[in-house]
Amino acid sequence: MTTSPLHHHLAPTAVADREEFERAVLDGLSRAPRAIPAKFLYDVRGSQLFDQICELPEYYLTRTETKILRACAPRIAELAGPGRALVEFGSGSSVKSRILLDAMQGLAAYAPIDISREHLDATADKLRRDYPGLRVEPVCGDYMAIDTLPDSVPRARRLGFFPGSTIGNLTPDEAKAFLRRARTLLGDDGAMVLGVDLRKDPALLHAAYNDSAGITAAFTLNLLRRMNRELDATLDLSGFAHEAFYNEEKGRIEIYFRSLRSQTAMVAGWRFMFAQGERVHTEYSYKYDHRTFAALVEGTGFRVGQTWVDDDSFFAVHYLVAERLPD
Ligand code: AVI
Repeated sequence: MTTSPLHHHLAPTAVADREEFERAVLDGLSRAPRAIPAKFLYDVRGSQLFDQICELPEYYLTRTETKILRACAPRIAELAGPGRALVEFGSGSSVKSRILLDAMQGLAAYAPIDISREHLDATADKLRRDYPGLRVEPVCGDYMAIDTLPDSVPRARRLGFFPGSTIGNLTPDEAKAFLRRARTLLGDDGAMVLGVDLRKDPALLHAAYNDSAGITAAFTLNLLRRMNRELDATLDLSGFAHEAFYNEEKGRIEIYFRSLRSQTAMVAGWRFMFAQGERVHTEYSYKYDHRTFAALVEGTGFRVGQTWVDDDSFFAVHYLVAERLPD
């Protein structure tokens, strides 16, 4: 089972999904600078490649966050108090949520939100088996868009969970909008546990997104494969390369695929020209220190209650507390 963090599709791509992909790609290749939204990286193979990224020696994020969560879970349980409904945004296989489920006794429910029905149902079945006393109420939907939960989720105080530094894949404006929606969904007595990758030595960041085994490159170039397969594109994979670098001024990793030569390719019946060296943007991965994270949270209806980091200060887990919603 894969753990794709952004909206993803494990079922065979339906017509609507294909159309959405086609529209996004044609639109993204027609504007300057060219860009394709990151969520399309996560087809079945992309999700598997992302799982492999999480295991890479250079990709410290997953193991560091897991270690922090194991250490701070009892304190999170204390801060949250009993009887909460745990709501996970983009749950995938709910691997990290198990750390919270193990630490939090007496939860009113666990409500994983995910776009993939198949993934949700399989994960919910497993959780019900492993946690017989736990009420599991999966919610099928786009966690980036919803601000209410269905009546199936009990009216308990809510604790949100958004791990993995997936918030870093959003622009700061998108991240603020997400936090505001999450605040509405979680309510006036809500709280949220959120994982964020920290700013650090650019060499370490560079290595994490340019791994020596070439898995991150394969992850980026899989988008071209997907275009060839689903959009009848004629992109020559050997004519493009993965490019990732840290933009220190913006505090973000930027990822592109770059054309190695001047070339043309068909995509969904349209001919596109790629100049030598031309890039198509696929991902941002923002890194936040405590100051920039506090600025991000400001005005969203949350305040930072508590923060835990690892010994190297590579990664932070924040406990956000709902405060009065701004007018
Ligand atoms: C999902 N997300 C937090 C990953 C990241 O680190 O920004 C996606 C990723 N892209 C390339 N490597 C990892």
